[in-house]
Amino acid sequence: MLLLAVETSCDDSAAAVLDGSGKVLAEEVYTQTEHCAHGGVVPEIASRLHMSVLPGVAGRVLEKSGTPLSGIDAFAATAGPGLTGSLLVGISYTKSLAFALGKPFLGINHLSAHLHIHYTEPVEFPAVALLASGGHTMLFYMTSWNSCCLLGSTRDDAAGEAFDKTAKLMELGYPGGRIIDRLAESGDPFSVKLPLPLGSGKNPEFSFSGLKTAAKLAWESGSVSAEDLAASFRRTVCDILVRKTIYQAVHRSARSVLAAGGVSANSLLRKELEVSCRKRNLKLFVPPAEHTMDNAVMVGRAALSALHFNPDAFSPLSCNAFPRWEGTCLSPLSC
Ligand code: KG4
Ligand code: ZN
Repeated sequence: MLLLAVETSCDDSAAAVLDGSGKVLAEEVYTQTEHCAHGGVVPEIASRLHMSVLPGVAGRVLEKSGTPLSGIDAFAATAGPGLTGSLLVGISYTKSLAFALGKPFLGINHLSAHLHIHYTEPVEFPAVALLASGGHTMLFYMTSWNSCCLLGSTRDDAAGEAFDKTAKLMELGYPGGRIIDRLAESGDPFSVKLPLPLGSGKNPEFSFSGLKTAAKLAWESGSVSAEDLAASFRRTVCDILVRKTIYQAVHRSARSVLAAGGVSANSLLRKELEVSCRKRNLKLFVPPAEHTMDNAVMVGRAALSALHFNPDAFSPLSCNAFPRWEGTCLSPLSC
């Protein structure tokens, strides 16, 4: 069983070839740096770039994996949530290949895909999963790969968005998460007092916009250094993410904690989750850095999970892009 997976939900054009066990035979991610000059992703530029870049990316992964197109047994692409124009490019491209070859097409939920990066790991259920990216901050309770319920999400900005917006107001560049993370290493994390909005561990909902405003006021006061503000901001965001995740894991007698999404690359978050999970005897799964960000491996593994649950699973060719997910229980197959 060989699968070609495609991811184009935002500004990464990615493709991967996986075997039936989820092993990666080849993968490639083209990150659209063209948005950096605009300080954020410009949707029309993103979809146009996917259109010109994706065929080359997919062609190269097939070549690197040594698989002719005719050797692919199933095709998967992210159907949402994400930028509609970007999603439409990936879905249409992948659907056409499946249709031309008479093979199944699977439309995949991007959020479920992020969690499925751990599908090949020895995860013990029940598990609590933290998904923190540029577009989402969510906590899930999972009793299996196919049973995943939302505990809470953000009421305003996502954690990655808060990093990006704070970096932008400090004129540090885009995307800001990695820049703040690096700068924070040489600052004092307790020097700038920032609020902990919805800070109680018991509350599984998040709010980051007040924190971003507090960082803006501190920065505009002119009395703090960039390093100290970066360190204080990073510590505060990580504190909120870790205390809520661990509270849910302990309270629900989870055996594993999963972290996923671009923010799970944050070095302090990784350290703090590790210390907290070790203390409570929880198994922690954090993706390798390159798989925290959007990639096609996670899409392929989510498709394999759907096929494992139902070997006849497929999406109709009418499967469409969807910009937002407002459900409560998450499935890998989105349509
Ligand atoms: O998962 P992802 O690639 O895209 C979405 O689905 O949104 O996540 C991108 C986000 C950006 O907001 C970026 O600033 C953030 O992940 N990010 C980080 C770090 N590396 C990337 N945030 C904090 N610390 C990092 N080291
Ligand atoms: Zn993502």
